[in-house]
Amino acid sequence: MSAATFCTKVTLIALLAVASINSMECHSFARTLLPEDKGLKTEKLTHIRFYFHDTITGANVTSIEVAEAPTTNSSKTSFGLVNVADEPMTEGPSLSSKLVGRAQGIFASASQEEVAFLMVFNYVFLEGEYNGSTLSVYGRNPIFNEVREMPVIGGTGVFRFARGYAQARTYFFNLTSNNAIVKYDVYVLHY
Ligand SMILES: *[C@@H]1O[C@H](CO)[C@@H](O)[C@H](O)[C@H]1NC(C)=O
Ligand SMILES: *[C@@H]1O[C@H](CO)[C@@H](O)[C@H](O)[C@H]1NC(C)=O
Ligand SMILES: *[C@@H]1O[C@H](CO)[C@@H](O)[C@H](O)[C@H]1NC(C)=O
Ligand SMILES: *[C@@H]1O[C@H](CO)[C@@H](O)[C@H](O)[C@H]1NC(C)=O
Repeated sequence: MSAATFCTKVTLIALLAVASINSMECHSFARTLLPEDKGLKTEKLTHIRFYFHDTITGANVTSIEVAEAPTTNSSKTSFGLVNVADEPMTEGPSLSSKLVGRAQGIFASASQEEVAFLMVFNYVFLEGEYNGSTLSVYGRNPIFNEVREMPVIGGTGVFRFARGYAQARTYFFNLTSNNAIVKYDVYVLHY
């Protein structure tokens, strides 16, 4: 719809709403739509489960340190450490099970009291109807807690308008290599 058409419609509505006629402004950059106009009908809840493989040592490292503070090494929580990660997300706990996506983002040690990361991640899905869609997760991850909950703050593709939460549980942690397998249960409302 052209800006002119849009403004005409607004003016007609304004004529009916006599009280607000003088304050009605005409914008070409923004207009109100009904959700149905974009095919948004029924909101649904999807449960996504995957295993996240964080490999910081060994042959195929998936998470690399990019920054630290002069005091990070002497901090009991590695306060100030910043990592960038591109981690495989698999259907089962084994790295050789089906790859369903990749978790790409940044995590930073942001607590001086316990090891708790600020997590800024995009889950990039690769499987079936979810292929190419993403979820954005931003939250706090106190990694030694049994369950860590992080908000899902948005999404793309099939996950447009997404909101929800992700629960992370450590499935396996190798004390020698510090590599971890983390089970994620993500609950997301989307259309
Ligand atoms: C590292 O990745 C290569 C290529 O995908 C693979 O052949 C190799 O088995 C992997 N090594 C480990 C230790 O996972
Ligand atoms: C902290 O420790 C790492 C690993 O031992 C080392 O590479 C780095 O240089 C140290 N950083 C500082 C600021 O001492
Ligand atoms: C996902 O989409 C990409 C790009 O369109 C395509 O190359 C790939 O084969 C798809 N993967 C699956 C599992 O359908
Ligand atoms: C833990 O990591 C060490 C060092 O990479 C490796 O030799 C060992 O096999 C791993 N243990 C398990 C159970 O994966």
